[in-house]
Amino acid sequence: MKTIRSRAELRAALARPRREGKWIGLVPTMGYFHGGHLSLMRRARGDCDVVVVSLFVNPTQFAPREDLDSYPRDEDRDRELAAAEGVDLFWVPAPEEMYPKGFATSVEVGESLTGILEGEHRGASHFRGVTTVVAKLFNSVQPDVAYFGRKDAQQAIVIERMTRDLDFPVEIEVLPTVREEDGLAMSSRNSYLTGEERERAAALSRALKAAEQAAERGEGSADALVEAVRSELRGAGVEPEYVEARDAEDLSPLASLNGRPLLLAVAARVGRARLIDSIVINPPPTGTARE
Ligand code: PAJ
Repeated sequence: MKTIRSRAELRAALARPRREGKWIGLVPTMGYFHGGHLSLMRRARGDCDVVVVSLFVNPTQFAPREDLDSYPRDEDRDRELAAAEGVDLFWVPAPEEMYPKGFATSVEVGESLTGILEGEHRGASHFRGVTTVVAKLFNSVQPDVAYFGRKDAQQAIVIERMTRDLDFPVEIEVLPTVREEDGLAMSSRNSYLTGEERERAAALSRALKAAEQAAERGEGSADALVEAVRSELRGAGVEPEYVEARDAEDLSPLASLNGRPLLLAVAARVGRARLIDSIVINPPPTGTARE
């Protein structure tokens, strides 16, 4: 595996495989790898001739009071983990090259997708930061395919929209959320949790599971599913920032599980960690009788 720091080096390393028509895959990350990141790399390794992993803790997607300075970092460990997954190019751009003096352009997906959920609670600049950096990563690597996690469900939808709207010739693959044994969605921010908080954090996935089970028993009202999540969180002493049911494809509000997959999304602070999780609940097949 080659570690690359500059865009010139990156272009040079990709010139030949691109000329030879090799299939190039990109896994964009902010590092501090866990099983979720590794699952994306593994899939890319299976699909592609050349796998590029980018590691860049993107300052523009953090709001002023967020955890940019304390965001966990361990480049040496990340390099070893990426190499063990058979990654070809480990690209660690320098902030000065990503955002040179005078940088003044951004890519912004419309409010109907970015002004809600995470965008509402973290501020509109969050997704502007994400889409701007992902557009830059796409232009630098020019991958055939890029891999993202369903863990950040809204982010994946926003990036799919940007890719379609701006005609990036990149296929977007979204892979399932990788979880710890007790259900907690893997996240670099889980490293902030103390022992007691780590136990409470498991309530997020448990709460989503409880709603999923309610849906399986025939509960179809979005409000009732949201309340099932809230009630489980309450029991665990976790105060959510939001719990919302939305159309899993376009994030529009959904009143009931009626013919369309429903995204149930939750965000909550546990100790210093701001955690998010979500599941998609599929509607029962049409014609299924409800009690
Ligand atoms: P980061 O949080 O490092 O995540 C990198 C990728 O890993 C994202 O696509 C994310 O959805 C995925 N991922 C994180 N946890 C996961 C889990 N438990 N299971 C499956 N996939 C998971 O997301 C970002 O970085 C940044 O916003 C980025 C897209 C790199 C732009 O800066």
